[in-house]
Formats: sequence, structure tokens, C-alpha cells
Amino acid sequence: MTTPPIEHIADIAAAIGSADSVCVITGAGVSAESGLRTFRGVTGMTAEDHGSMASLWKDFDPATLATAEAFAADPERVTRWYDWRRLGCLAAEPNAAHLGLAEIERRVAARGAEFTLLTQNVDRLHQRAGSRNVVELHGTIMAWRCLRTGKEVEPEPRPFDRFPPRSPLVDDSSDPLGVLRPSVVWFGEMLPPDAVARAEAAAASCDLFLSVGTSSVVYPAAGFIQRARERGADTAEINLEPTPISRLVRWSVRAKAGAALGAVAAALGSRPGP
Ligand code: OAD
Repeated sequence: MTTPPIEHIADIAAAIGSADSVCVITGAGVSAESGLRTFRGVTGMTAEDHGSMASLWKDFDPATLATAEAFAADPERVTRWYDWRRLGCLAAEPNAAHLGLAEIERRVAARGAEFTLLTQNVDRLHQRAGSRNVVELHGTIMAWRCLRTGKEVEPEPRPFDRFPPRSPLVDDSSDPLGVLRPSVVWFGEMLPPDAVARAEAAAASCDLFLSVGTSSVVYPAAGFIQRARERGADTAEINLEPTPISRLVRWSVRAKAGAALGAVAAALGSRPGP
């Protein structure tokens, strides 16, 4: 049985091929095919593919895990949960969606055009796939921050031996602030200002804005497409299900990110050079 072609791939590849600046935003759906659970929405994956793939906020309450208040109330529980997720990210491999975006960036950069990848993901899979110009809007789970010094460390790729983990930057083992927290953005916290500034600049100057695998409900990330629309950029979305931006974009693609981005990268490769 042959799979039907995915809609709008040629349009998106043509827009990328002629853009002076491309801006892509990704969310948890891009990593679903690597076996990492999304926060909400469908995943298109089954337990047979990767064990439990129920979305995270179905099984866990963000208010008790993803806020500074939750960490203050129960640092052991919060850091155990983030360490469990960190180990899952380390064990995961980039999938066709990550590799497709890295390939698209190479092709765009090769003809001297700009490519910016905004991601809400904390898993670092884009960088591992070869993406270079990545803006981490929600921080990363691979770095942890010392509460005493404010500095970041990159822990070894094995589980912490105590929770909350002790900071290697603080000698005094009785210092209550000598502990680490994940360098991710929690609900109620500001996004890193330099990441927001880079994201706004990229969205406001791009000719094509592409949103992939995000439910587009968490601000300010969900608002960058508005900047691109105000500029008159072409807009596209790749998602398994409709989102609040589906009706706003020029090309709405209902498909798995891996297949769709692989097809876009292949279509770009078969286009005549500049
Ligand atoms: P969500 O979990 O909210 O949304 C994932 C989206 O990806 C959904 O719309 C799914 O339909 C879609 N999806 C799932 N599998 C897919 C696949 N294989 N191909 C294409 N699409 C797929 O994730 P985000 O939008 O990233 O923040 O969530 C944004 C933020 O909310 C996260 O960074 C996190 C969360 O709460 C914090 O923890 C602060």
C-alpha cells in the first residue's frame, strides 16, 4: 500500500527555497517520534512504539512540578521528576523531524539566507541532530542552576545520587542554597530575555514562519507567529491535530512532523540551485 503524499509540501519547500530568512518554532510534538511524551494533545504514538505515551500533563499536575512554588515546597519530588525526564532525553535519539530541520537549515545557510529555530523543547535533540542556530525559549533540562551562585552546570549523564542534587560549586554541604534546580522555565517565570529578543527579531524579519508540533497555547511562544503575519511572511503549520493557529496560517499540514519535514527537506534537495 502506498502512503498518499502529504499536502502543501511543495509550497512550503518553495517558500523556504526563495526566503531570505526562515523562522521555525517547534514544540513537544517534534520529539514525540523520539519517544518523549508531549504535554498535551495527541501523540500519534502507541504504548507499543515507546511505552506509555500519554501526554505528561494528563499524568502529572504542572502546578505541583513546574513552578518555583512547587520546588520550594518539595524540592526532592520536583528534582526527582526532572531528573527522570533528563535521563529520558539523554536516552532518546533525534528523529526524522529533527534531522529534517537540520538539513533544511544547511540548505538555507548554504545559499546565504538566514535560518532561526525557536524551540520550546528542553531536550537538546535539535542540537544533537545538527541544528546550529537554535533559540531555547524554555531553557534546557541538560543544564542545572546552582541556587547559591546562579551559575549553570551540566551534570554527568547518569542519575543524581541525592535530591535535590547538591551543587558542585558550593563546598559547604550544610548550605541550604547549595543545591541545583533544572535550568528550565517554570510557569510564572520569565523566559530568558536574550532568547525572547532573538525570537522576536527572527519572527519580525522572516519571509516564512513555520510552526511544528506545538499546541500553540503557551505564551509568549504562541505569539511569535503574529509578528511574522504582521510583516507579511508566509506561514505554515505541521501538526497532527488542529491548533488555535491552524486557521491563521497559509498552509496547514496535518501529518507527523518526521514524515512532513523529511519530505520538505527532500523537496528542497530536488529544487534547482540559486
Ligand atoms: P504540547 O504538548 O502542548 O503540544 C504538542 C503538540 O504536538 C500537540 O498539538 C500535538 O497534536 C502535536 N503532535 C504530537 N505528536 C506529533 C507528531 N509526531 N508530529 C506532529 N505533531 C505532533 O507541547 P508544546 O506546544 O511544546 O512548558 O508545549 C508548550 C509548553 O507547554 C512546553 O514547553 C511546556 C508545556 O507546559 C513548560 O513546562 C513551561
